[in-house]
Amino acid sequence: MPDSQDTLSSPRPASAGASALGTAAAANSPAVEFRDIDIAYGKFVAVRDFSLSIAKGSFVTLLGPSGCGKTTILRSIAGLVDISGGQIMIDGRRVDDVPIYKRNIGLVFQSYALFPHKNVFDNVAFGLKYRDVPKPEIVRRVGKALDMVRLPGTEKKLPSQLSGGQQQRIALARAIVFEPQVLLLDEPLSALDANMREEMRVEIKKIQKETGITAIFVTHDQEEALSMSDRIVVMNAGAVEQIGTPQEVYETPATAFVADFLGKANMLPGTVTRSGQGTAVTLAAGQTVNVVPPKPLAQGGKVTVVVRPQKLSVGTAAGANRLSGRVVSASYLGGSAIYEIDIGGGTLIRANTPISGRVFGEGEAIEVGFDPDGCVLLDEGGQRIS
Ligand SMILES: Nc1ncnc2c1ncn2[C@@H]1O[C@H](COP(=O)(O)OP(=O)(O)O)[C@@H](O)[C@H]1O
Ligand SMILES: [Mg+2]
Repeated sequence: MPDSQDTLSSPRPASAGASALGTAAAANSPAVEFRDIDIAYGKFVAVRDFSLSIAKGSFVTLLGPSGCGKTTILRSIAGLVDISGGQIMIDGRRVDDVPIYKRNIGLVFQSYALFPHKNVFDNVAFGLKYRDVPKPEIVRRVGKALDMVRLPGTEKKLPSQLSGGQQQRIALARAIVFEPQVLLLDEPLSALDANMREEMRVEIKKIQKETGITAIFVTHDQEEALSMSDRIVVMNAGAVEQIGTPQEVYETPATAFVADFLGKANMLPGTVTRSGQGTAVTLAAGQTVNVVPPKPLAQGGKVTVVVRPQKLSVGTAAGANRLSGRVVSASYLGGSAIYEIDIGGGTLIRANTPISGRVFGEGEAIEVGFDPDGCVLLDEGGQRIS
């Protein structure tokens, strides 16, 4: 435990840092850059050919299911795991050989990992003690960090006297107090209850903007990723599936995996039955829908039509494509409702629509509508046709 805690704020004496990372780091370099890195645990390759360039001051999220390699990548930046191939650059300098204590990186984990017997002041000041910062300056900086996380005046409290959310704010204060070059956040909100999670999303984002710090955030929660990030890196099984803005990855998923992982898109397999102007796909469920492919499709080709639940209307269906079906389940959510609709052939589609008028009930026959523009087409290999 003490071992891992020592690395929490990777303390770096100012002089050593300057020589390790260079004093004349290029202003235009990315904050962090991965060039084709591979990371293996013994024979198991956890991360493969990972490349990513992170602009200074940006908020980038690694999003993917448990076990896809997110934590491993964060650990590689901090120097807590060795890479077996490729290069990692921080501020334009290769850091593969820079030891942990010389990397100027702030870390926040899911578990708060505060020292239980130290008070808030000592917890937050931890990373400064190694940096020859004079005492009055430490007091000033700790005070400022506690102001930022909106817990001013809590210096004398013990972690056990604080709620989970407050402890996580202290952990955040400890990570930013020494003004690190990069802030790494590994699922920092997953131990919090739903309300606190949402509050902290906003707060972390605000602090990141105010400080201008480069943040790399890890989560398996798509909402968190969509709401907080400048860019999202969607990962699957140790490799990148797509990198883009929240809107890009949501609206134009590059692969079937991304379409499914972000927002559970409807994936309707079918065959191209008319090509050229007015391209049409006949779904496995039997109905034929119009699509607008970004390039001409060969007749007879196998494709998957991807439609977001929010793009579907029900009841008095709007849109050029209308399918008839039967409600299998209806969930009332206040302003909107989520329906599962059987459109035949055992194909269920999911609609998430604002409620206008009444909520449809189980077993009712309804129409589902969507516009050809509102869908993405995937090829047989699950890649977006572009
Ligand atoms: N110390 C380790 N030794 C062996 N395998 C590991 C170790 N740490 C992680 N792994 C494996 O590497 C893969 C990626 O893990 P991790 O980076 O923790 O994923 P994530 O953070 O996305 O859940 C997983 O299959 C995990 O079991
Ligand atoms: Mg993890």
